[in-house]
Amino acid sequence: MLRNALSKASLGRSVSGRLASASGRHAPGGSRRLASQLVEPKQPEVVTDEIPGPQSKAALSRLGLLQDTRAVVFAGDYQKSVGNYIVDADGNYLLDLYCQIASIPVGYNNAALLKAAQSPEMASTLANRPALGMYPSKDWGSTLEQAYMRVKPKGLDMVFTTAHGSDANELAYKAAFMYYAKTRRGGTEGFSAQEMSSVMDNVPPGAPDVAILSFTAGFHGRTFGALSTTRSKAIHKLDIPAFRWPRAPFPQLRYPLDKYSEENAAEESRCLAETERILHDNPMPIAAIVIEPVQSEGGDRHASPRFFQELRSITKQHDVLMIVDEVQTGCGATGTFWAHEQWALETPPDMVTFSKKMQTAGFYHTREMVPDQPYRNFNTWLGDPSRALMTRAIVDEVLERKLVEQTRDTGAYLKSHLEPLAIRYFRVFNSVRGEGTFLAFDCTSAELRTELLHLMRMEGVNMGGSGDVAVRFRPMLTLTKAHVNVFITRFESVLNKLYQKHWPR
Ligand SMILES: Cc1ncc(COP(=O)(O)O)c(C=O)c1O
Repeated sequence: MLRNALSKASLGRSVSGRLASASGRHAPGGSRRLASQLVEPKQPEVVTDEIPGPQSKAALSRLGLLQDTRAVVFAGDYQKSVGNYIVDADGNYLLDLYCQIASIPVGYNNAALLKAAQSPEMASTLANRPALGMYPSKDWGSTLEQAYMRVKPKGLDMVFTTAHGSDANELAYKAAFMYYAKTRRGGTEGFSAQEMSSVMDNVPPGAPDVAILSFTAGFHGRTFGALSTTRSKAIHKLDIPAFRWPRAPFPQLRYPLDKYSEENAAEESRCLAETERILHDNPMPIAAIVIEPVQSEGGDRHASPRFFQELRSITKQHDVLMIVDEVQTGCGATGTFWAHEQWALETPPDMVTFSKKMQTAGFYHTREMVPDQPYRNFNTWLGDPSRALMTRAIVDEVLERKLVEQTRDTGAYLKSHLEPLAIRYFRVFNSVRGEGTFLAFDCTSAELRTELLHLMRMEGVNMGGSGDVAVRFRPMLTLTKAHVNVFITRFESVLNKLYQKHWPR
C-alpha cells in the first residue's frame, strides 16, 4: 500500500518520477542503467505506509518457509541500492547509517568494487577456489600484500585469513594457546606421550585448562571459543556449553567525558586493578586477554587511551598476550584505519582481528604466533581469495579517496550537531560519544529507542541499536556532510514527534 492514499494518481506520478531520477534506473536513452551508473538520490524516499512494505512482506513470507525471518527488518533490492542509500523491495530509498551491521565500507554498487567483481581475475578465483594452506595461487602473496599489508597495524607483519569475525577470534585464541604452551615448554613443541594420549579424551595435560580473559559487555562472536568470551547478552550464550573463563570489568564511563573526568579515571583504575587481580589470582592460567577498542554490540562503551595503555603494560608484566578485536572498529570508521592507533601504545598488541568493513576476516600477528609445526592452525579454505580481491579494491578506494580523513571530518561535523540536540531533547537521548563516524547516543529507555528507530526508518533513515538503550552510527566511509544534513533534518523531525506524543505542552 502506498503511503497515504492522497491523490493516488499524483503520488504515483511523483513516485515514479522520483524513482527514475533518484535511482537512475533509466539511462538517458531509456535503456536500463548498469549498476555502476546508478546515481545516489539527494534525499530519502519512503513510498509505503509501513516498512516492511507489501513487496518486502511477500518476499519474507516466501523466505520464512525456508529460514527464520524474525530478525529481518526488510528485504533489500541490492541491484538498485546505491552509495549511502539502501533500496528495499518496495522501492523505498533509505539513507543507510547501519550498513549491514557496520560492514559496508564504500557504498552500495560502488563502481570500483563492481569493476573488481567483473574482472577476469575474479572469475578465475571464483571458479577455482583453492585450499589456501596447500595450493595457494602464485599470486596469493601479492594479493595479501595489496589487500592487507598496506594497511597493517604497526608491528604486526603477518596475516592469517579466516571466514568471518567469530572465526578470526577463534583462530587467534588457538594461536595464543599454542604460543602459551610452547613458551611453557621452553620454546619447543615436543609433546609428551601423556599429552598425546590425554588430548584425545579432551583432558589435561594434552587439552590444558588455559583461559582467554574477556571483559563485561564485550562481544567477540558466536562460535564456541569466541562465544565463551562474549559477555554482552545472555540470549547469545544460553544453552551452549562454555569454557569456564574469567571476565574482568570494563569501565562504565559517564558523558560528556570532560565533565566527569575524575570519576571516569577512578572507574578505569578500578577496572585495571580488578583485571590485574584476576591475572594474578585466577586458578586457571590465562594465555591472552581479548578486548574491543569500543565495545560495540555491548552498547558502544568506551575507555580512554590511558586505560588501554595501562592494560597493555599489565599484560606485559603478567606475560599474557593482548588480542585487540577490531572486527567492528577496523577499516577507518573511527577516524584512523585501526581504532587502536589512537592509543599510541609503546608496544603493539600481539594480535589484531578484523572482518566487517574489510569484507574478509582474519588476524594480523607477529611471526612469534606461528606454531612450530604446520597444519596446527588450519582449515580447508583459510579465507577466500575472491573476497580478498574485494578487500584489495576496498583498500584502494579508502586510500585513494582519503576516506579515513573524510570520515574524521564528517564524524566531527555529525557530533557537533548531535551534542546540542542531546541538550535540547534530553528527554529522548543523552551521552553522545565516539570518534570519526563511529558515534552513538543513549536513549532514555529501551521502548523509546524502538520507537525512535521505527520513526527514523519511516523518515527514510535506516539505523540500528546496540546494547540495551544505545543507538549506534555505523555509516560507510563515504558519508559526507551533505548526508549528515539530511539525517539531522529528519532526526529533528522525529525528536519533535516524540516530544509532541510523550510530553505535549
Ligand atoms: C567486535 C566483534 N567481534 C566479533 C564479531 C563476530 O563477527 P561475525 O559476526 O562476523 O562472526 C562481531 C560481530 O558483530 C563484533 O562486533
